Amino acid sequence: GRGAAMVTAVAVRLEAQRREVAKVLAPLRLKHDDLVEVQALMRQEMELGLGQETHANASVRMLPTYVCHTPDGTEQGEFLALDLGGTNFRVLVVQVTEEGIRMASEIYVIPTAIMQGTGEALFDHIIDCIVDFQMKQDLMTHTLPLGFTFSFPCQQVGLDKALLLTWTKGFSASGCVGQDVVQLLREAAERKHHAGLKVVALVNDTVGTMMSCGYEDPKCEIGLIVGTGTNACYMEEMRNVGTVEGDEGRMCINMEWGAFGDNGCLDHIFTSFDRVVDEQTINPGKQRFEKLISGMYLGEIVRHILLAMSDKELLFHGNPSPKLFTKDIFKTKFLSTIELDGLALRQIRQILQDLELDASYEDSVLMREVCHTVSMRAAQLCAAGLAAVVEKMRENRGLDRLSVTVGVDGTLYKLHPHFSHCLQRTLRDLAPNCTVKFMPSEDGSGKGAALVAAVACRTTGPGQ
Ligand code: GLC
Repeated sequence: GRGAAMVTAVAVRLEAQRREVAKVLAPLRLKHDDLVEVQALMRQEMELGLGQETHANASVRMLPTYVCHTPDGTEQGEFLALDLGGTNFRVLVVQVTEEGIRMASEIYVIPTAIMQGTGEALFDHIIDCIVDFQMKQDLMTHTLPLGFTFSFPCQQVGLDKALLLTWTKGFSASGCVGQDVVQLLREAAERKHHAGLKVVALVNDTVGTMMSCGYEDPKCEIGLIVGTGTNACYMEEMRNVGTVEGDEGRMCINMEWGAFGDNGCLDHIFTSFDRVVDEQTINPGKQRFEKLISGMYLGEIVRHILLAMSDKELLFHGNPSPKLFTKDIFKTKFLSTIELDGLALRQIRQILQDLELDASYEDSVLMREVCHTVSMRAAQLCAAGLAAVVEKMRENRGLDRLSVTVGVDGTLYKLHPHFSHCLQRTLRDLAPNCTVKFMPSEDGSGKGAALVAAVACRTTGPGQ
């Protein structure tokens, strides 16, 4: 009868819709072989970055850090630490004692106008925050050695001399690229007549994270960040580091893997959504791997998929809200919420309502699928990168099996309900001869900078 015909018509329409949805999402679904290929490409770029003749043109820069040992537990002292380049800017005071590490910290806001203004204004602001912190902590009369976690690519000349190669993430302060960041901080201190500042070390956040976890687990020889940006560091054999003199021992290498693919080697996996997201950033064509993985960009990828689906009338009856056309309106923390297991679809609709989207139950279900597809791809790509790292370390050491710990930090890794699980599962699959333990760091960058400062003070003498 007519009822049955209508039911069939609805079923046919739904089936056609499913096919359309699958078509939109297909380019984002990576197969095992795709990941194996990404792993091989990463490995290749790593070799290029390490080689003396090839590093100038490599997309993965493989920067020497002058950190040659993970902590041995004998580090001691009281330090100031700065942490710039993640979600928050923080100033910390860190006490490293025989009993362990104690610290206190304050979060300060860096307004976008300062992130993207002049370098002088940025570093003046940093000094203001340090002074405020020292007043609050009653540290004005102390000159504590300072460790600076600076989460951007730097060509390090020594532990306390580091030239900024380029800004990444949302920063673009003028007059800094090519300059020694430690010197920029010292000059700001002079302008502000702050005499009691003694910068002894500058480290990347990956290195800080590795060091802070290494303080508790000597097997921790890799640092990983999946937050606003993404990056990794690991202990490489000096004999393989063509860009630094000497063949003995190891040195921590800041990979700067966020720039993987900037030479075009990942073009085949970028989707139309990735290309639009990239074009709308302040650094188009740069940090292409990072733009597939990290918190600053995942929400944008999802937003563009939603717009495309809406355009095909697969979502919101073809009527997205004007709000959905606003850049960065879809926060990456929405992905974490939407993908929570057992979360009532009602709560998803709440997020959608905040975006002024008129979403049906079916819309909410589809939204979750979109978010899941984007975040799983991110976790898988991250695993492919890590697989290249652990396999290289295993070969370096001539081992059949490598057992290693990864110190890890970052909002996406820590807050997303499935990211870490998917990362670990994919890594086991891609690097079956490595046993990899993940150790989330607590305040890693701050602690790590203090530990590096402690080692620096020990080797150069405290009174330098
Ligand atoms: C960006 C920076 C890198 C940092 C990472 C995580 O990729 O270039 O230095 O480690 O973000 O914060």
